[in-house]
This record gives sequence, C-alpha cells and structure tokens, in this order.
Amino acid sequence: MDPIATPIILISVLMIVTLLVILVDKFLGSGGERKITVNKDNVITITGDETALNALTNNKIFLPSSCGGKATCGTCKFRLVDWHEAPKATEVPFLSKAEIEEGIRLSCQVKVTSDIEIEVPSSILNAKPFYGKVVEIEDLTHDIKRVKFEMDVDFVFKPGQYLQIEVPGIETTRAYSIASNSKDLRHPEVIIRLVPGGVATKFIHKALIIGDTLKITGPFGDFYLHEESTRPIIMIAGGSGKAPIRSIIYKLMEKDIPRKATYFFGARTKKDLYYTDYFLDIAKMYPNFKYIPALSTPLPEDNWTLDVGLITDVVRRYTDDLSGHEAYLCGSPGMIDACIKVLKEKGMPDEFIYFDKF
Ligand SMILES: Cc1cc2nc3c(=O)[nH]c(=O)nc-3n(C[C@H](O)[C@H](O)[C@H](O)COP(=O)(O)OP(=O)(O)OC[C@H]3O[C@@H](n4cnc5c(N)ncnc54)[C@H](O)[C@@H]3O)c2cc1C
Ligand code: FES
Repeated sequence: MDPIATPIILISVLMIVTLLVILVDKFLGSGGERKITVNKDNVITITGDETALNALTNNKIFLPSSCGGKATCGTCKFRLVDWHEAPKATEVPFLSKAEIEEGIRLSCQVKVTSDIEIEVPSSILNAKPFYGKVVEIEDLTHDIKRVKFEMDVDFVFKPGQYLQIEVPGIETTRAYSIASNSKDLRHPEVIIRLVPGGVATKFIHKALIIGDTLKITGPFGDFYLHEESTRPIIMIAGGSGKAPIRSIIYKLMEKDIPRKATYFFGARTKKDLYYTDYFLDIAKMYPNFKYIPALSTPLPEDNWTLDVGLITDVVRRYTDDLSGHEAYLCGSPGMIDACIKVLKEKGMPDEFIYFDKF
C-alpha cells in the first residue's frame, strides 16, 4: 500500500468518528434539548448535560443546596415523577426507604439526560435571589458571630426558616437559619459558628467586613413556628441552633407569648453561652416563658449556679407528660436525635416534633 495512504485513511476515520460523536452528542447527549416539567404546569427547557439542581437554579427555581452540590447536606431533594432509576450511592445516606420508593432524589446528583417531570414543595417556588449588604458583625462567643444584612428588597420569611449565603469567589452556598424578627423584612440576621477547616465559616469569621455585599437566596425550610397551634411549646437548642429559636421567640412575643413555652439551651462551659441575660429577662417579662440554660461541664471559674448536665438529662428533669406539647429543636444531629428520644419517652407524638439538624 502507498505509505501516504495509511495516515490519510486513519485521519479520515478519526474525522468521521469525531463527527459522529458530535452528532450523537448533539441529538442524544449533552447538546440536546430537554424539558423539565415542575409541579405539573411549569415547563422549563434546557440544553446540555446539567444536573437538575443547576438546571433549576439557572431557571430561577432555587432548591436548597447547602453543600453546593457535593452530596454532603441532603437538602436539595425533589421528586422525580415516574422515574424508576435507583438513586446513586452518594444519595442513599440522605434518603429513607419510603423516600426512595416515592422517587425522591438529590437534585444535585441527577443529570438531566431526557425530558423529566418533577415535584418540589410549593414553598420552594417562593425562594428568590437577593443581595444583602453587611451592616453589623458582632462576636457573641469565642467562635460564634452574629451578622446583620440590609437587603435590596423585602425578604419575607417564616420564623425558623433559613437562607443560603453564597461564598464569593468559590460560588459555593451554605445554609444559615434566620435569627431575626420576621417583621423586619429588610434586615435578616444570622448566627454563625466557626467550623474548624470550614470554607464558608472561615470566610465569614475571618474575611467578611461591614459594607460587603453577599448573594443570598431564600427563604427555605419546613422548620418554622406553627402559629395556628395552641399546644404548649418545648424548644431545645445548642450552639448556633439558637438562631431560628430567637426568631420564633420574637414571633411569640408579638402575641405576648400566648401559650406556655419552655426553652432549653445546652452548652459545655460558660464561654459557649450567649444571650443568657437577654432570654432570662424575657422570662421575667412573660409569665408563659421559661428559659433554662444548662452547662454540661462547667469550669470552677464559671461560678455557674444554674442547671448542670447534658441537655437531655435537664429536659428529662423538667418535663412530665409531653403528649399534648409540640417541640422545636435546633442543633447538632447527635444532640437532636438524643433529645427526640427523650421527648418521645415523655409521650410527644412524632408529628409535633419539628427540627433542623446542622
Ligand atoms: C438548614 C440548615 C441550617 C443551618 N443553620 C446554621 C446556622 O444558623 N448557623 C451555623 O453556624 N450553621 C448553620 N448550618 C450549617 C452551615 O450550613 C454550614 O454547614 C456550616 O457553617 C459549615 O460550613 P463551612 O463551609 O464552614 O464548612 P465546610 O467547608 O462545609 O466543612 C468543613 C469540614 O467541617 C465539617 N463540618 C461541616 N459542618 C459542621 C458542623 N456544623 N459541625 C462540625 N463539623 C462540621 C465538614 O464535614 C467538613 O469536614 C445550617 C445548615 C443547614 C442544613
Ligand atoms: S446540594 Fe447538598 S446534597 Fe445536593
């Protein structure tokens, strides 16, 4: 064979294969057009191999995504209607058996490779992007800061819900419960604990300054005060879990705290406590409200004269039959799980235990 013919044939074959790959990609793969039908009537059209989370975000449907799509938070759930593919291994830790059977998936782990129909909670459709200018930063403890924003437009939320902050430069988002009075639509506040090695909290604690403007989305979450209920309330928090409870208490105070409300706050030592006098003063003003801060390992120099012990033991000590109560819990997963166990021992029904774990 002519020695020049072989490379020419090879190059031609390569060109044909490349052309085929491009055509297949365009019509079947990443270049194709697909439709996402959201809650039956909202149809969005996308092109390219995007995750459902990105496709929705680009079309102004903001699912919560506290880990920025890394499959470590489990907040970006949606339901794939009539879709029978098993969830990926990365999703399984966040999905219960019932959720898997219902078709619930993590939207950041689902690539949209064909037309799909999805369901998201209707409240999600209220979440919008905002710009918040930092107007106050306050040290509450050695590792907890309060940050107050001034929003460009009204930010309506229910007490207990959370917002998401985008970390500038790396475009990753993190969830933070809203700590402020829901009546103040322009000035949401968050309470943020520094996580060692944490990307967002390092930025917020070490680099954020007054005057900075951050991209914020929200509100999110089905953890909020059930205002219509008349059940007495148990609230339990630890660390930065005080944030949504503060917002809930503002709302209760608006109505003179109309039902009995007991708030347990657990910390290790006195240096982990904040707003103690503030909540003790509220308890003096409102007969229905009790504040019970407790230290698990007080130091001698703390001169602590109030409750001592794990928060679970303190809750157990102060409560009797809780079958008629409802509870709002916010704190670390370990603390929340242990407290839920105690509440259930005391007869509280599952459906009246509301919580956010982080
Ligand atoms: C609904 C919701 C509400 C939240 N509200 C608040 C709030 O009000 N205040 C607040 O401070 N945080 C809150 N968080 C947690 C927050 O979203 C971030 O996860 C947290 O600030 C850590 O972010 P990071 O980028 O600094 O850490 P990352 O860079 O994400 O994590 C760094 C390392 O720390 C570990 N880590 C992450 N979070 C924690 C943690 N909480 N404790 C111990 N180790 C951790 C990670 O596994 C990783 O190894 C909330 C989370 C959710 C889902
Ligand atoms: S965004 Fe965190 S799991 Fe999907």
